Amino acid sequence: MHKDRRLRGAAYLLLIYSVAFVAFPVLAAEDDDAAIEQKLGACVACHGADGIGKAPQYPNLQGQKASYVEKQLKAFRSGERKDASMTALAAGLSDEDIADLSTYFEQVK
Ligand code: HEC
Repeated sequence: MHKDRRLRGAAYLLLIYSVAFVAFPVLAAEDDDAAIEQKLGACVACHGADGIGKAPQYPNLQGQKASYVEKQLKAFRSGERKDASMTALAAGLSDEDIADLSTYFEQVK
């Protein structure tokens, strides 16, 4: 009787652990998606969600090397590279934002 209850307890624990293991990566991925969408919100009007510029003056970023995009965003942020739109926008980006956005545009199709 006693043993039975302990066994059931162990089974429940196992169940809880497996649910947590399955659920957590999914939650983390959704979080990431939401975070990147929020950051992208500041870029899509000009560069497009697919990284294809919405007008001739907006460069395509689709498939661009992440290391290049990262370097340009940091150059805009530091003032080394200047553009009326990009200088102001890059000023608000953290290193993490820049890394995430750069990876996004390299991978987006
Ligand atoms: C108002 C329009 C506008 C918005 C919004 C905008 N950009 Fe830009 N972006 C430009 C323009 C214009 C250029 C070209 C600047 C130049 O000629 O030097 C540019 C250039 C760039 C470049 C350099 C491309 C290259 O080939 O050297 C990167 C990278 C970039 N933008 C990323 C972003 C990211 C990331 C965001 C969102 C945080 C963003 N931009 C938002 C207009 C915009």
